[in-house]
Amino acid sequence: MNEAKITVPALLARKQHGPKIAMLTAYDATMARLLDEGGADVLLVGDSLGMVVQGLPNTLPVTVEEICYHGRAVARATHRAHVVGDMPFMSYQSSVERALESAGQMLKTGGFEAVKLEGGVRFAEHIKAIVSAGIPVMGHVGLLPQSVHAMGGFRVQGKGETDAERVLSDARAVADAGAYAVVLEGIPSELGARITEAISIPTIGIGAGPACDGQVLVCYDFLGMYPNLKPKFVKHFAELGKEIVLATQSYVQEVQSGAFPSAAQSFASAPKKQPAVETGAKAVLGAPPKSYGPASEDS
Ligand code: KIV
Repeated sequence: MNEAKITVPALLARKQHGPKIAMLTAYDATMARLLDEGGADVLLVGDSLGMVVQGLPNTLPVTVEEICYHGRAVARATHRAHVVGDMPFMSYQSSVERALESAGQMLKTGGFEAVKLEGGVRFAEHIKAIVSAGIPVMGHVGLLPQSVHAMGGFRVQGKGETDAERVLSDARAVADAGAYAVVLEGIPSELGARITEAISIPTIGIGAGPACDGQVLVCYDFLGMYPNLKPKFVKHFAELGKEIVLATQSYVQEVQSGAFPSAAQSFASAPKKQPAVETGAKAVLGAPPKSYGPASEDS
């Protein structure tokens, strides 16, 4: 792949000139390599890793160190996509200084090019401070998974006019604080369109309708790896979950029947040497010294 790296200015320009931004989450090098090759513009190491990688009920226990561990793996395998790290719960909420320190740590040790944080008006100062340090910030408003308990669950936000105004104010605050893009999660499509129209930075929707300047999905969701859990905003672009179960059933069956491994997946021994019949001077002086070169068949 020889395509130019996606940068913050390039993403900002998409608002005016398109095409829409296609963002996905990634948590490891193999997946990141494939999504990058497929043309994803942005790869987010989301704190959703708590749920989809660690099997937790929500994102709250995820740490900066864990995000950075996964970030390094994703960054190593990504050539074109812009790589963003999610600031986990309590890595920025307690103070502007804490936010700055955590964001700095994520760029220094996580391989990230930008950070994302949840919240609007209440975190405008935090965003300003991080941006002032030269760290690009992606905002996140609407449904905020880190506030799951305060919201009473993963609930659509901004349904009534008063609540819609609140979400719009949050998006405006994030843009005014200097963020270069904002995720709109779990809001009515009409509100997604209204916010996209109202602010000058790209909006990236997840359950926020088609008018947004881009879309984001969790990689395991769009690949159909949770066949039994499909929120309304998710579309399966493949059914890898079913494929993986079928492949596993075939593997188990072939191991049990002895069909796997066959000769094609097995190593042969070195051919047995015939004892040499030696005559003349060689027989009197003895054999030449042994070679200690590498063994011939090791893979
Ligand atoms: O953590 C995450 O994966 C996210 C995206 C769904 C936007 O925040």
